[in-house]
Amino acid sequence: MSAEGDAKKQRAAQAALAYIEDGTVIGVGTGSTVNFFIDALGKCPDRVRAAVSSSNATTARLRAIGIEVLDLNEIEDLGLYIDGADEATRARHLIKGGGGALTGEKIITAAATRFVCMVDDTKVVTSLGKFPLPVEVIPMARALVSRRLAAYGGRPVWRENCVTDSGNHILDVHGLTIDDPPALEHKLNQITGVVTVGLFAERPADVLLIGTASGTDVV
Ligand code: 5RP
Repeated sequence: MSAEGDAKKQRAAQAALAYIEDGTVIGVGTGSTVNFFIDALGKCPDRVRAAVSSSNATTARLRAIGIEVLDLNEIEDLGLYIDGADEATRARHLIKGGGGALTGEKIITAAATRFVCMVDDTKVVTSLGKFPLPVEVIPMARALVSRRLAAYGGRPVWRENCVTDSGNHILDVHGLTIDDPPALEHKLNQITGVVTVGLFAERPADVLLIGTASGTDVV
């Protein structure tokens, strides 16, 4: 990513701080935009009581700035989840999972009352699908799920040398036409062996923060 791209991500990440209710537990996603958010939070770590984390990588970063990381099972109410995305529409439908942490991300998204998503403006599209759709699968089902995805018109490519935090594999599905993101998410979730589909549309983001060259747009 270019310096200009990083600056856009940083702007969105800085804007996300405003959504924190002081003294609460927040959910934190994974990726370079989230890393900028964690860097910004490192200047005011006392704003949060603790965090729940979507990945081992994020857990390590949060602990490095002195933030306690709790197990999601210990939390009854999670008010806020903050994460990035690989592609987003203005309807706040997302493709996520480029960083391989989609399962933890989807679980925390489901648990949170409010999901604030940060992207740079190059990721905003009118129709999802140029970015290959990540699908996490149980390893023994990889070939079976690949065949089913191909029957839906996609071209699944196994992300070799990638084992997720949950011990699973990822297929990156190229060439899908995503006219109706919630319907496709629902359909792909029915394939036996699929753990998580990287479409976040049945439960979209509540707020999309778009970092631009001059500031941050809020959708
Ligand atoms: C990780 C994700 C990330 O949010 C997504 O890949 C965006 O990453 P980055 O902020 O590095 O562009 O879904 O699984």
